[in-house]
Amino acid sequence: MTPKTFKIKSFGCQMNVYDGERMSELLAAQGMAAAADGEDADLVVLNTCHIREKAAEKAYSDIGRLRRDDGTKPLIALAGCVAQAEGAEARRRSQMIDIVVGPQAYHRLPEMVAEASRGARPVDTDMPAISKFDAMPQRRRANPSSFLTVQEGCDKFCTYCVVPYTRGAEISRPFDDILSEANALADAGAREIVLLGQNVNAWSHEDLGLADLIRALATIDGLERIRYTTSHPADMTDELIAAHGEVDKLMPYLHLPVQSGSNRILRAMNRSHSAETYLAILEKVRSARPDIALSGDFIVGFPGETDEDFEATLNIVDEVRYASAYSFKYSARPGTPAAVMEDQIPREIMEDRLQRLQERINLHQLAFNRSKVGVDTRILIERAGKLPGQMIGRSPWLQSVHVETDARPGDLVDVTLVAAGPNSIAGALRQKVAA
Ligand code: 5AD
Ligand code: SF4
Repeated sequence: MTPKTFKIKSFGCQMNVYDGERMSELLAAQGMAAAADGEDADLVVLNTCHIREKAAEKAYSDIGRLRRDDGTKPLIALAGCVAQAEGAEARRRSQMIDIVVGPQAYHRLPEMVAEASRGARPVDTDMPAISKFDAMPQRRRANPSSFLTVQEGCDKFCTYCVVPYTRGAEISRPFDDILSEANALADAGAREIVLLGQNVNAWSHEDLGLADLIRALATIDGLERIRYTTSHPADMTDELIAAHGEVDKLMPYLHLPVQSGSNRILRAMNRSHSAETYLAILEKVRSARPDIALSGDFIVGFPGETDEDFEATLNIVDEVRYASAYSFKYSARPGTPAAVMEDQIPREIMEDRLQRLQERINLHQLAFNRSKVGVDTRILIERAGKLPGQMIGRSPWLQSVHVETDARPGDLVDVTLVAAGPNSIAGALRQKVAA
Protein backbone atom coordinates (compact mmCIF):
# COMPACT_ATOMS: atom_id res chain seq x y z
CA MET A 1 0.00 0.00 0.00
CA THR A 2 1.31 3.44 -0.86
CA PRO A 3 1.97 5.50 2.27
CA LYS A 4 -0.08 8.64 2.77
CA THR A 5 1.78 10.14 5.70
CA PHE A 6 5.47 10.30 6.56
CA LYS A 7 7.80 11.26 9.35
CA ILE A 8 11.48 12.08 8.96
CA LYS A 9 13.77 11.88 11.97
CA SER A 10 17.21 13.40 11.45
CA PHE A 11 20.17 12.72 13.72
CA GLY A 12 23.69 14.11 13.78
CA CYS A 13 24.96 17.13 11.92
CA GLN A 14 23.26 20.13 10.32
CA MET A 15 23.68 18.62 6.88
CA ASN A 16 21.36 15.81 7.95
CA VAL A 17 18.83 18.44 9.03
CA TYR A 18 19.10 19.99 5.58
CA ASP A 19 18.82 16.60 3.86
CA GLY A 20 15.78 15.82 6.03
CA GLU A 21 14.09 19.03 4.85
CA ARG A 22 14.82 18.18 1.22
CA MET A 23 13.48 14.62 1.58
CA SER A 24 10.38 16.05 3.20
CA GLU A 25 9.85 18.40 0.24
CA LEU A 26 10.34 15.49 -2.18
CA LEU A 27 7.74 13.33 -0.45
CA ALA A 28 5.32 16.25 -0.17
CA ALA A 29 5.70 16.84 -3.91
CA GLN A 30 4.45 13.24 -4.37
CA GLY A 31 1.28 14.08 -2.47
CA MET A 32 2.29 12.60 0.88
CA ALA A 33 1.66 14.60 4.05
CA ALA A 34 3.92 15.05 7.04
CA ALA A 35 2.41 13.26 10.06
CA ALA A 36 1.60 15.54 12.97
CA ASP A 37 3.64 15.29 16.18
CA GLY A 38 2.72 12.18 18.10
CA GLU A 39 0.74 10.81 15.16
CA ASP A 40 1.57 7.45 13.63
CA ALA A 41 3.06 7.73 10.13
CA ASP A 42 2.79 5.22 7.26
CA LEU A 43 6.42 5.85 6.31
CA VAL A 44 9.26 6.61 8.74
CA VAL A 45 12.60 7.82 7.42
CA LEU A 46 15.49 7.55 9.87
CA ASN A 47 18.14 9.95 8.64
CA THR A 48 21.10 8.56 10.53
CA CYS A 49 24.60 9.54 11.67
CA HIS A 50 27.67 7.29 11.63
CA ILE A 51 30.31 9.66 13.01
CA ARG A 52 30.63 7.94 16.40
CA GLU A 53 29.56 4.46 17.49
CA LYS A 54 26.86 5.72 19.84
CA ALA A 55 25.14 7.68 17.07
CA ALA A 56 25.25 4.70 14.72
CA GLU A 57 23.82 2.29 17.30
CA LYS A 58 20.96 4.68 17.97
CA ALA A 59 19.62 3.99 14.49
CA TYR A 60 19.00 0.34 15.32
CA SER A 61 17.44 0.92 18.72
CA ASP A 62 15.10 3.44 17.10
CA ILE A 63 14.06 0.95 14.44
CA GLY A 64 13.11 -1.57 17.12
CA ARG A 65 10.81 0.97 18.72
CA LEU A 66 8.82 1.43 15.51
CA ARG A 67 7.01 -1.90 15.90
CA ARG A 68 3.40 -1.14 16.85
CA ASP A 69 1.47 -2.81 19.66
CA ASP A 70 -0.65 -4.73 17.14
CA GLY A 71 2.48 -6.23 15.57
CA THR A 72 2.35 -4.09 12.42
CA LYS A 73 4.98 -1.53 11.50
CA PRO A 74 5.31 1.49 9.22
CA LEU A 75 7.34 1.36 6.03
CA ILE A 76 10.88 2.04 7.26
CA ALA A 77 13.59 3.82 5.27
CA LEU A 78 17.12 3.84 6.65
CA ALA A 79 18.74 6.99 5.24
CA GLY A 80 21.86 8.98 5.99
CA CYS A 81 25.36 7.85 6.82
CA VAL A 82 24.57 4.52 8.53
CA ALA A 83 22.69 3.53 5.37
CA GLN A 84 25.71 4.53 3.28
CA ALA A 85 28.20 2.72 5.50
CA GLU A 86 26.25 -0.51 5.86
CA GLY A 87 24.24 -0.77 2.65
CA ALA A 88 22.44 -4.09 2.25
CA GLU A 89 24.20 -5.32 5.40
CA ALA A 90 21.83 -3.08 7.40
CA ARG A 91 18.92 -5.33 6.54
CA ARG A 92 20.75 -8.33 7.92
CA ARG A 93 20.92 -6.46 11.22
CA SER A 94 17.28 -5.47 11.14
CA GLN A 95 14.67 -7.24 9.03
CA MET A 96 12.32 -4.34 9.72
CA ILE A 97 14.12 -2.07 7.27
CA ASP A 98 12.35 -1.75 3.90
CA ILE A 99 14.50 0.84 2.14
CA VAL A 100 18.20 1.65 2.41
CA VAL A 101 19.10 4.97 0.85
CA GLY A 102 22.46 6.76 1.10
CA PRO A 103 22.96 10.53 1.33
CA GLN A 104 23.86 10.83 -2.37
CA ALA A 105 20.83 8.86 -3.57
CA TYR A 106 17.89 10.33 -1.69
CA HIS A 107 16.49 12.07 -4.76
CA ARG A 108 15.36 8.51 -5.62
CA LEU A 109 13.43 8.14 -2.36
CA PRO A 110 9.94 8.59 -3.92
CA GLU A 111 10.46 5.80 -6.46
CA MET A 112 12.05 3.59 -3.82
CA VAL A 113 8.99 4.13 -1.61
CA ALA A 114 6.80 3.09 -4.55
CA GLU A 115 8.92 -0.06 -5.06
CA ALA A 116 8.79 -0.89 -1.37
CA SER A 117 5.00 -0.42 -1.36
CA ARG A 118 4.87 -3.18 -3.97
CA GLY A 119 6.87 -5.45 -1.69
CA ALA A 120 10.39 -4.87 -3.05
CA ARG A 121 13.33 -4.08 -0.75
CA PRO A 122 15.35 -1.42 -2.61
CA VAL A 123 18.89 -0.43 -1.66
CA ASP A 124 20.68 2.54 -3.21
CA THR A 125 24.02 3.69 -1.90
CA ASP A 126 25.40 4.87 -5.24
CA MET A 127 27.26 8.13 -5.47
CA PRO A 128 26.27 9.18 -8.99
CA ALA A 129 28.15 11.89 -10.86
CA ILE A 130 24.92 13.76 -11.63
CA SER A 131 23.77 15.97 -8.84
CA LYS A 132 20.85 14.86 -6.69
CA PHE A 133 20.11 18.57 -6.22
CA ASP A 134 18.95 18.80 -9.86
CA ALA A 135 16.16 16.36 -9.08
CA MET A 136 14.85 18.35 -6.13
CA PRO A 137 11.76 20.57 -6.16
CA GLN A 138 12.16 24.36 -5.84
CA ARG A 139 12.29 25.54 -2.22
CA ARG A 140 9.06 27.09 -1.00
CA ARG A 141 9.49 27.04 2.77
CA ALA A 142 12.22 28.54 4.89
CA ASN A 143 13.14 29.06 8.52
CA PRO A 144 14.32 32.48 9.73
CA SER A 145 17.73 30.83 9.75
CA SER A 146 17.90 28.30 6.92
CA PHE A 147 20.54 25.76 5.99
CA LEU A 148 21.87 25.55 2.46
CA THR A 149 24.27 22.76 1.49
CA VAL A 150 26.92 24.07 -0.92
CA GLN A 151 29.57 21.38 -0.63
CA GLU A 152 29.61 17.75 0.39
CA GLY A 153 32.17 15.10 1.11
CA CYS A 154 35.76 15.25 2.16
CA ASP A 155 39.17 14.40 0.66
CA LYS A 156 41.16 15.07 3.82
CA PHE A 157 41.09 11.58 5.31
CA CYS A 158 41.73 12.37 8.95
CA THR A 159 42.60 8.96 10.32
CA TYR A 160 39.67 8.77 12.78
CA CYS A 161 36.92 9.93 10.45
CA VAL A 162 34.25 8.07 8.44
CA VAL A 163 33.10 11.09 6.45
CA PRO A 164 35.29 10.50 3.38
CA TYR A 165 33.70 7.02 3.18
CA THR A 166 30.07 7.91 3.98
CA ARG A 167 29.78 11.23 2.18
CA GLY A 168 32.31 10.51 -0.53
CA ALA A 169 34.78 12.76 -2.29
CA GLU A 170 34.63 16.52 -2.03
CA ILE A 171 32.09 18.01 -4.41
CA SER A 172 30.90 21.60 -4.76
CA ARG A 173 27.50 22.69 -6.06
CA PRO A 174 27.59 25.17 -8.94
CA PHE A 175 27.49 28.90 -8.13
CA ASP A 176 24.24 29.59 -10.01
CA ASP A 177 22.36 26.72 -8.33
CA ILE A 178 23.33 27.99 -4.90
CA LEU A 179 22.33 31.55 -5.74
CA SER A 180 18.96 30.47 -7.04
CA GLU A 181 18.29 28.33 -3.95
CA ALA A 182 19.36 31.23 -1.71
CA ASN A 183 16.99 33.58 -3.54
CA ALA A 184 14.15 31.09 -3.16
CA LEU A 185 14.88 30.77 0.56
CA ALA A 186 14.98 34.56 0.97
CA ASP A 187 11.66 34.86 -0.91
CA ALA A 188 10.21 32.25 1.44
CA GLY A 189 11.23 34.32 4.47
CA ALA A 190 14.80 33.31 5.38
CA ARG A 191 16.68 36.22 6.96
CA GLU A 192 19.82 34.18 7.58
CA ILE A 193 21.47 31.47 5.51
CA VAL A 194 23.94 29.00 6.95
CA LEU A 195 26.09 27.55 4.19
CA LEU A 196 26.83 23.91 4.90
CA GLY A 197 29.57 21.54 3.88
CA GLN A 198 31.73 18.91 5.55
CA ASN A 199 34.53 21.14 4.34
CA VAL A 200 32.54 24.19 3.42
CA ASN A 201 35.55 26.47 2.96
CA ALA A 202 36.85 24.09 0.29
CA TRP A 203 33.87 25.14 -1.86
CA SER A 204 34.99 26.15 -5.34
CA HIS A 205 33.40 26.67 -8.71
CA GLU A 206 35.51 27.51 -11.75
CA ASP A 207 37.82 30.19 -10.34
CA LEU A 208 35.52 31.21 -7.50
CA GLY A 209 35.98 30.40 -3.84
CA LEU A 210 33.74 30.60 -0.77
CA ALA A 211 34.59 34.28 -0.22
CA ASP A 212 33.20 35.11 -3.70
CA LEU A 213 30.07 33.10 -3.00
CA ILE A 214 29.53 34.94 0.29
CA ARG A 215 29.98 38.32 -1.40
CA ALA A 216 27.39 37.36 -4.04
CA LEU A 217 24.90 36.14 -1.44
CA ALA A 218 25.35 39.38 0.48
CA THR A 219 23.68 41.26 -2.41
CA ILE A 220 20.37 39.40 -1.95
CA ASP A 221 17.67 41.74 -0.60
CA GLY A 222 15.96 40.57 2.56
CA LEU A 223 18.79 38.25 3.43
CA GLU A 224 20.49 39.88 6.40
CA ARG A 225 22.94 37.32 7.71
CA ILE A 226 25.32 34.73 6.33
CA ARG A 227 27.19 32.01 8.21
CA TYR A 228 29.10 28.92 7.10
CA THR A 229 30.13 25.67 8.73
CA THR A 230 32.26 23.48 9.04
CA SER A 231 35.67 24.60 7.94
CA HIS A 232 39.11 23.02 7.72
CA PRO A 233 42.21 25.07 8.61
CA ALA A 234 43.90 24.04 5.33
CA ASP A 235 41.19 25.82 3.30
CA MET A 236 41.10 29.04 5.32
CA THR A 237 42.21 31.34 2.49
CA ASP A 238 43.28 34.97 2.83
CA GLU A 239 40.25 35.93 0.68
CA LEU A 240 37.89 34.26 3.13
CA ILE A 241 39.61 35.85 6.09
CA ALA A 242 39.39 39.25 4.39
CA ALA A 243 35.65 38.75 3.80
CA HIS A 244 35.20 38.55 7.58
CA GLY A 245 36.46 42.10 7.82
CA GLU A 246 34.63 43.45 4.78
CA VAL A 247 31.22 41.80 4.37
CA ASP A 248 28.80 43.23 6.94
CA LYS A 249 26.28 40.41 6.49
CA LEU A 250 28.91 37.77 7.26
CA MET A 251 28.44 37.12 10.96
CA PRO A 252 31.42 37.33 13.34
CA TYR A 253 31.57 33.63 14.11
CA LEU A 254 33.92 30.92 12.90
CA HIS A 255 33.79 27.21 13.62
CA LEU A 256 37.29 25.93 12.90
CA PRO A 257 38.00 22.51 14.41
CA VAL A 258 41.53 21.81 15.65
CA GLN A 259 40.83 18.38 17.28
CA SER A 260 43.97 18.38 19.45
CA GLY A 261 46.62 20.76 20.74
CA SER A 262 49.42 18.21 20.42
CA ASN A 263 51.45 18.20 17.21
CA ARG A 264 52.31 14.53 17.68
CA ILE A 265 48.60 13.64 17.81
CA LEU A 266 47.73 16.04 14.97
CA ARG A 267 50.26 14.21 12.79
CA ALA A 268 48.79 10.83 13.74
CA MET A 269 45.36 12.24 12.90
CA ASN A 270 46.67 13.35 9.47
CA ARG A 271 45.35 16.86 10.15
CA SER A 272 47.83 18.74 7.89
CA HIS A 273 48.14 21.61 10.38
CA SER A 274 50.07 22.03 13.63
CA ALA A 275 48.94 23.83 16.75
CA GLU A 276 51.13 26.75 15.67
CA THR A 277 49.83 27.04 12.10
CA TYR A 278 46.26 26.80 13.43
CA LEU A 279 46.88 29.59 15.92
CA ALA A 280 48.48 31.71 13.20
CA ILE A 281 45.29 31.41 11.11
CA LEU A 282 43.16 32.50 14.06
CA GLU A 283 45.49 35.43 14.60
CA LYS A 284 44.82 36.59 11.04
CA VAL A 285 41.08 36.08 11.43
CA ARG A 286 41.13 38.12 14.62
CA SER A 287 42.98 40.97 13.00
CA ALA A 288 40.41 41.02 10.16
CA ARG A 289 37.48 40.85 12.58
CA PRO A 290 38.54 41.58 16.17
CA ASP A 291 35.21 40.65 17.80
CA ILE A 292 34.92 37.25 16.08
CA ALA A 293 33.53 34.40 18.19
CA LEU A 294 35.70 31.33 17.72
CA SER A 295 34.46 27.79 17.97
CA GLY A 296 36.05 24.39 17.45
CA ASP A 297 35.87 20.62 17.80
CA PHE A 298 38.06 18.39 19.96
CA ILE A 299 38.63 14.68 20.25
CA VAL A 300 40.06 13.31 23.49
CA GLY A 301 41.61 9.87 23.80
CA PHE A 302 42.86 9.45 20.23
CA PRO A 303 45.08 6.31 20.18
CA GLY A 304 48.43 7.03 21.85
CA GLU A 305 47.29 10.29 23.50
CA THR A 306 49.41 10.83 26.63
CA ASP A 307 48.74 13.11 29.60
CA GLU A 308 51.20 15.51 28.04
CA ASP A 309 49.34 15.51 24.72
CA PHE A 310 46.12 16.17 26.56
CA GLU A 311 47.69 19.07 28.48
CA ALA A 312 48.58 20.59 25.10
CA THR A 313 44.90 20.42 24.18
CA LEU A 314 43.94 22.25 27.38
CA ASN A 315 46.61 24.82 26.58
CA ILE A 316 45.29 25.55 23.13
CA VAL A 317 41.80 26.03 24.59
CA ASP A 318 43.25 28.63 26.97
CA GLU A 319 45.19 30.27 24.20
CA VAL A 320 42.23 30.62 21.81
CA ARG A 321 39.63 31.44 24.48
CA TYR A 322 36.84 29.79 22.49
CA ALA A 323 33.38 31.33 22.60
CA SER A 324 32.05 27.78 22.30
CA ALA A 325 33.45 24.36 21.44
CA TYR A 326 32.36 20.78 20.94
CA SER A 327 34.32 17.91 22.42
CA PHE A 328 34.04 14.18 21.97
CA LYS A 329 35.55 10.95 23.23
CA TYR A 330 37.41 9.20 20.44
CA SER A 331 35.28 6.46 18.92
CA ALA A 332 36.95 3.79 16.77
CA ARG A 333 35.15 3.60 13.42
CA PRO A 334 35.32 0.49 11.26
CA GLY A 335 37.51 0.94 8.19
CA THR A 336 39.40 3.99 9.44
CA PRO A 337 43.18 3.83 9.95
CA ALA A 338 43.00 4.94 13.60
CA ALA A 339 40.72 2.03 14.51
CA VAL A 340 43.65 -0.39 14.12
CA MET A 341 46.31 1.82 15.73
CA GLU A 342 48.03 0.54 18.83
CA ASP A 343 47.56 2.03 22.24
CA GLN A 344 43.80 2.63 22.22
CA ILE A 345 42.95 4.66 25.31
CA PRO A 346 40.86 3.12 28.13
CA ARG A 347 37.36 4.50 28.56
CA GLU A 348 37.90 5.82 32.11
CA ILE A 349 40.83 7.94 30.95
CA MET A 350 38.81 9.30 28.05
CA GLU A 351 35.93 10.16 30.35
CA ASP A 352 38.19 11.95 32.80
CA ARG A 353 39.86 13.94 30.02
CA LEU A 354 36.55 14.84 28.42
CA GLN A 355 35.22 16.15 31.70
CA ARG A 356 38.32 18.25 32.33
CA LEU A 357 38.25 19.61 28.78
CA GLN A 358 34.57 20.49 28.96
CA GLU A 359 35.06 22.31 32.26
CA ARG A 360 37.80 24.37 30.66
CA ILE A 361 35.71 25.11 27.57
CA ASN A 362 32.75 26.15 29.75
CA LEU A 363 34.90 28.65 31.62
CA HIS A 364 35.83 30.37 28.38
CA GLN A 365 32.29 30.19 27.05
CA LEU A 366 31.00 31.91 30.18
CA ALA A 367 33.77 34.51 30.02
CA PHE A 368 32.92 35.23 26.39
CA ASN A 369 29.22 35.61 27.17
CA ARG A 370 29.99 37.86 30.12
CA SER A 371 32.21 40.05 27.96
CA LYS A 372 29.10 40.93 25.95
CA VAL A 373 27.05 42.14 28.91
CA GLY A 374 26.24 45.82 28.41
CA VAL A 375 26.62 45.54 24.64
CA ASP A 376 23.89 46.81 22.30
CA THR A 377 23.33 44.39 19.46
CA ARG A 378 20.78 42.98 17.02
CA ILE A 379 19.27 39.54 17.31
CA LEU A 380 17.34 37.40 14.84
CA ILE A 381 14.26 35.95 16.53
CA GLU A 382 13.97 32.22 15.85
CA ARG A 383 11.34 30.80 18.22
CA ALA A 384 9.24 31.22 21.34
CA GLY A 385 10.93 30.77 24.71
CA LYS A 386 9.59 28.79 27.69
CA LEU A 387 8.11 31.77 29.54
CA PRO A 388 5.04 33.66 28.30
CA GLY A 389 6.02 36.61 26.10
CA GLN A 390 9.59 35.40 25.88
CA MET A 391 11.28 34.86 22.51
CA ILE A 392 14.66 33.36 21.68
CA GLY A 393 16.98 34.74 19.05
CA ARG A 394 20.63 34.65 18.07
CA SER A 395 23.21 37.34 18.49
CA PRO A 396 25.75 37.92 15.71
CA TRP A 397 28.13 35.74 17.79
CA LEU A 398 25.58 32.88 17.69
CA GLN A 399 24.66 33.20 21.36
CA SER A 400 21.10 32.26 22.34
CA VAL A 401 19.44 35.43 23.57
CA HIS A 402 16.18 35.49 25.58
CA VAL A 403 14.11 38.62 25.30
CA GLU A 404 10.60 39.72 26.20
CA THR A 405 9.02 41.03 23.04
CA ASP A 406 6.01 40.67 20.78
CA ALA A 407 8.37 40.17 17.82
CA ARG A 408 7.83 37.01 15.75
CA PRO A 409 10.27 34.46 14.33
CA GLY A 410 12.13 36.10 11.46
CA ASP A 411 12.06 39.57 13.04
CA LEU A 412 15.27 41.38 13.85
CA VAL A 413 15.25 43.25 17.13
CA ASP A 414 17.74 45.54 18.81
CA VAL A 415 18.58 44.61 22.38
CA THR A 416 21.00 45.39 25.14
CA LEU A 417 22.59 42.22 26.51
CA VAL A 418 22.06 42.40 30.25
CA ALA A 419 23.01 39.10 31.92
CA ALA A 420 25.06 36.10 30.83
CA GLY A 421 25.03 32.40 31.70
CA PRO A 422 27.21 29.68 30.17
CA ASN A 423 24.62 28.76 27.53
CA SER A 424 22.45 31.81 27.05
CA ILE A 425 22.16 35.54 27.49
CA ALA A 426 19.31 37.76 28.61
CA GLY A 427 18.53 40.73 26.40
CA ALA A 428 16.48 43.84 27.10
CA LEU A 429 14.44 45.08 24.16
CA ARG A 430 15.37 48.41 22.61
CA GLN A 431 13.45 48.32 19.32
CA LYS A 432 12.11 46.17 16.57
CA VAL A 433 13.83 46.67 13.23
CA ALA A 434 11.56 47.36 10.26
CA ALA A 435 11.64 44.48 7.77
N1 5AD B 1 35.49 9.83 17.26
C1 5AD B 1 35.17 10.95 17.97
N2 5AD B 1 34.89 12.12 17.41
C2 5AD B 1 34.91 12.19 16.06
N3 5AD B 1 34.69 13.22 15.22
C3 5AD B 1 34.83 12.77 13.95
N4 5AD B 1 35.16 11.46 13.96
C4 5AD B 1 35.22 11.09 15.26
C5 5AD B 1 35.52 9.86 15.91
N5 5AD B 1 35.85 8.77 15.23
C6 5AD B 1 34.38 14.57 15.67
C7 5AD B 1 35.40 15.58 15.17
C8 5AD B 1 34.66 16.30 14.09
C9 5AD B 1 33.25 16.25 14.62
C10 5AD B 1 32.17 16.49 13.61
O1 5AD B 1 33.12 14.97 15.16
O2 5AD B 1 35.72 16.46 16.23
O3 5AD B 1 35.11 17.63 13.89
FE1 SF4 C 1 36.43 14.05 8.78
FE2 SF4 C 1 38.82 15.31 8.73
FE3 SF4 C 1 37.18 15.44 6.58
FE4 SF4 C 1 36.52 16.75 8.86
S1 SF4 C 1 38.33 17.13 7.54
S2 SF4 C 1 35.15 15.46 7.59
S3 SF4 C 1 37.30 15.36 10.41
S4 SF4 C 1 38.18 13.58 7.38
